[in-house]
Amino acid sequence: MRIDVVSIFPDYLAPLRLSLLGRAQEDGLLSLAVHDLRDFTFDRHHTVDDTPYGGGAGMVMKPEPWGLALEKVLAEQSRMSAAEGTRDDAAVAPRRPVLIVPSPAGAVFTQAMAYELAEEPTLAFACGRYEGIDERVLQWAAEGFDVRPVSIGDYVLNGGEVAVMAMVEAVGRLIPGVVGNPESLVEESHADGLLEYPVYTKPSSWRGLEVPEVLLSGNHGRIASWRLEQQLRRTAARRPELLDGADAAPYGKAERSV
Ligand code: ADE
Repeated sequence: MRIDVVSIFPDYLAPLRLSLLGRAQEDGLLSLAVHDLRDFTFDRHHTVDDTPYGGGAGMVMKPEPWGLALEKVLAEQSRMSAAEGTRDDAAVAPRRPVLIVPSPAGAVFTQAMAYELAEEPTLAFACGRYEGIDERVLQWAAEGFDVRPVSIGDYVLNGGEVAVMAMVEAVGRLIPGVVGNPESLVEESHADGLLEYPVYTKPSSWRGLEVPEVLLSGNHGRIASWRLEQQLRRTAARRPELLDGADAAPYGKAERSV
C-alpha cells in the first residue's frame, strides 16, 4: 500500500517509521511519503493560513498550497497505480483514490472502516491545523479523490497529525504480512463487534492474585466459553451500545444481564 500524508509538521509523523509499520516499510509492504505543505508556498514566510471570511476567531488554511500539494500526491499515486496495474484493470471501473481529511466534524473512524481502507492500494491524508482547511479544497479535491472527512472521536485535537497516526497504525497493521501472526487480529477488540477478553501470563500467582483456574485447565472448550462470557460481560459493562451492533446481535441482547 502507498500512503501519502500532507502536513505542516512532517516530523510529527516520524513515529510511523518505527516498530511494526517501520518493518513493513523495510519489507516493501507499505510505502509512506510525508509532504511538507510549506513546500507548496512561494512567499518569503511560507504562509499557509489567513483570516476567516465572515470573521471569527483563529485562522483558516489557504487553498492554494493545498491545491498544489494534492495535485502532486494525485499525480504520484496515479503513476504508481498505473505502473502496478492496481487501478486500471480493464474489467473493473477505475476507482478514485481515497483522500482522508481528519476533522472532528467527520464520520467516526471504526475498526470496520480500518478493514475497508486496508483494501485500498493507496491512501492520502490531508492534515489540517488552525480552524481547518478552506472548504473549497475539499470540493475541488473531489474531482480526483474520493474525499472522506474522518474523526477519531468526539474531542478536539490541535490538528490532524495525531489522528493520522492513529488511522495509519490501525489500517497498516491490517495489511497482509504486517502482523506476524494474523490469528492475533481475529481475537482482538472490535474484530467481532465485542471488546476482547482479559489476558494473563506467567506466573500463575502474583502478589496474591491468581490466574482464573479455567485458563490452566487445558480444556479448550471451557476456555472458549469463558472467554466469550468475559467478552460479553466487559462489553455490557464498558460499552453497552456495542451489544446492539450487527455482529454481536445474535447473543448481544439476550446476554445483557451477564
Ligand atoms: N482534528 C482535530 N480534532 C480531530 C479529531 N477528533 N479527529 C480527527 N481529526 C481531528
